[in-house]
Amino acid sequence: MIKTKKLKFYIRTFGCQMNVYDSRLVSESLKLSGFEEVNTPEEADVILSNTCSVRQKAEERGVKFLRDYKKQGKITVMLGCVAQQHRRDQVLPGVDLAFGTRSYILLPQYIMGYLNGNAPENRILGEDFGLLELTDTPLKRRATWIQEYVNIMQGCDNFCSYCIVPFTRGREISRPSEHILKELINLQKQGVVEVTLLGQNVNSYFDGKRQFYQLLDLLDKETEFLRIRFTTSHPRDLTYKVLRVIADSTRITDWIHLPLQAGSTRILKKMRRGYTKEEYIEIANMIREVLPEATITTDIMVGFPGETDEDFEDTLDVVRKVKFDHAFTFIYSPRPGTRAAKLKDDTSNEVKGKRLRILIEEVNRIAHIQRTRMISKFYDFLVEGESRKDKSLSAGRNRGFIKGVILGNYPPGTYLIGKVIDVKGLAPIVQPVKIIDKFEIYNELTLSV
Ligand code: SAH
Ligand code: SF4
Ligand code: F3S
Repeated sequence: MIKTKKLKFYIRTFGCQMNVYDSRLVSESLKLSGFEEVNTPEEADVILSNTCSVRQKAEERGVKFLRDYKKQGKITVMLGCVAQQHRRDQVLPGVDLAFGTRSYILLPQYIMGYLNGNAPENRILGEDFGLLELTDTPLKRRATWIQEYVNIMQGCDNFCSYCIVPFTRGREISRPSEHILKELINLQKQGVVEVTLLGQNVNSYFDGKRQFYQLLDLLDKETEFLRIRFTTSHPRDLTYKVLRVIADSTRITDWIHLPLQAGSTRILKKMRRGYTKEEYIEIANMIREVLPEATITTDIMVGFPGETDEDFEDTLDVVRKVKFDHAFTFIYSPRPGTRAAKLKDDTSNEVKGKRLRILIEEVNRIAHIQRTRMISKFYDFLVEGESRKDKSLSAGRNRGFIKGVILGNYPPGTYLIGKVIDVKGLAPIVQPVKIIDKFEIYNELTLSV
């Protein structure tokens, strides 16, 4: 029955933006091979789950999603970091096929084979990082929205002691800058106005020809995007040169995501992060000096093995000194196979939970103060949709990645200059003063408002 109709697939993405990007390419390549994408899992014949294993809970969610649909008799395909981590000898119940993070090039061919009764002997493909999906698909991909992600590199060589990513994404490889530029120009032609360049550590980008600041400079000069964002910056590798390129550009946004992880030098050393508390603060100060309006966001973990109250105080101290605009906060989750998983963990869950609550409170308190500094100033906002709380209002982000509530119902994609008149919680309330053409230059416009 299945062979006579167009096969329908549904893909659900867990984890980070890299998975979002990969899912886009997978969906594109399946469509090019004659599959049809549907909007709900119920309508689909084939269910794909692009999984994440950065924390245990994330891993469980991606696996459970597939199992639920296997029970309903669907064909289930696991992609992403959980699939990559599992080796040949491990059983993945509820999964018909699994593809490692560099094997997606094989996907359409193997799914078709499986449907025709040719189940591969080994259901987990590409687990040795042998294949890389740098095919033509990224260069030809169709944009789905005016904001898109673009991977500029794969893998990570840092081996922070708590982190599974180097095991699930393999060694670091930078895509050739010419390929990235081609992909960006293709997206631009389709009306994309904002791109986010992705890498686990974008500051170590090097394609044999260009370093990261040179890539940024190339993309700044050769494209016409409204905004070029990038993430993630490793504090050890962020350079003055990168900040200079941002300062001189009207496209590259001054939003720096700079994961702190912990404030205590002792814990940072155990995490193998390669910087001290003082060095981190110095880097943040350098950002503020070169880019006075920069938004600095971060990732912070509590409960790393051996973290004492004193260590945790150091984390709070950095939060207060750097004044983050936003922080993603996590409780440390041991990941099998990592160095930290072998460390003795004697902090109770109760203490970890308490530290997380205190941290979130402090982060929000500081972020609120940061937001109130926006009052009476003008910013550009790109409308992304309706406000969740009130459908007569719109929601969008400014250049600095701050999400605001915009007074009035504007269609998604509207680009405007607005004045911040108030702050509610962490959201600036924005009174639009001018709807602008997307390719006019923001700085000049603010002067004329
Ligand atoms: N490459 C990025 C991070 C990728 S993972 C970087 O270097 O910052 C995203 C975030 O998940 C990390 O910044 C970290 O805060 C968190 N994380 C990673 N491993 C974790 C673990 N084992 N337990 C809890 N949080 C973790
Ligand atoms: Fe993980 Fe560290 Fe690499 Fe980030 S830099 S992906 S935290 S190993
Ligand atoms: Fe998760 Fe893999 Fe990204 S572990 S955070 S999906 S690189």
